[in-house]
Amino acid sequence: MPGKKITISDLQEKKNKGEKITMMTAYDYPTAGLVDQVGMDTTLVGDSLGMVMLGYNSTVPVTMEEMLHHCRAVTRGTKNSFVLGDMPFMSYQVSVEKAVENAGRFMKEAGCDSVKLEGGSEVCHVVRAIVDAGVPVCAHIGLTPQTATKLSGFRVQGKDAESARELVQSAKDLEEAGVFMIVMECIPDLVAAKITKELNIPTIGIGAGKECDGQVLVYHDVVGLFERFTPKFVKRYVNLAPQIRDALTQYKEEVEEGTFPGPEHIFAMNEEEAKKL
Ligand code: KIV
Repeated sequence: MPGKKITISDLQEKKNKGEKITMMTAYDYPTAGLVDQVGMDTTLVGDSLGMVMLGYNSTVPVTMEEMLHHCRAVTRGTKNSFVLGDMPFMSYQVSVEKAVENAGRFMKEAGCDSVKLEGGSEVCHVVRAIVDAGVPVCAHIGLTPQTATKLSGFRVQGKDAESARELVQSAKDLEEAGVFMIVMECIPDLVAAKITKELNIPTIGIGAGKECDGQVLVYHDVVGLFERFTPKFVKRYVNLAPQIRDALTQYKEEVEEGTFPGPEHIFAMNEEEAKKL
């Protein structure tokens, strides 16, 4: 694979030059390979895997072991893209020591380049400790799915001036605490634009408008493999689920009617050997 491994400096340089940063989620080896091959700057092993890969109703049940399992597959399939591992719910809230230990596991045991964790000013002490331990941290503010219940559901955040100001303050505090990048989910585009302008570090938006320094979407939404619901901010570039169903139906029918395997799929035996059977 040509090209070089993307670094935090490369991402920062993109912001400085006004070039957009690309991010896509991936949860397995083949998808990571595809994401890497098209030259995506960053690959997020999001805890969204709980919903799109494991069938949970939310990201809350996802465990460290599940995250590490998927992160290992993704880093095996990635050559150049910068890989972020998402810290699951309760892996960084219980104590700072536990948070540092768990963050370290993403790098040591799964080969990730950094971690991502949800929260604003209230998680800055945790961010500082993880960064001091040598693990780069990306923050995630706005709609934070792990605490959606506390936020009274999956709702746009920062819609009034007071909550918007809180988001701006959180972003500034997180930058000061040492995060190298911030994901902003489901916030008004004006708020995201203000944060992006006021921070030195890059911002990545998902449902946060076009003024962010980059964009992220969930792979299964982009390729039409998650059919339970589609958020407003998603653009589906291809609808694979019906195509896969058609292929599977055709295979099933051909097996049932005996037209698969055809002669081209069969290993013939040497005639002399066949006579000895
Ligand atoms: O888990 C995830 O995929 C995420 C993105 C939606 C940003 O956090």
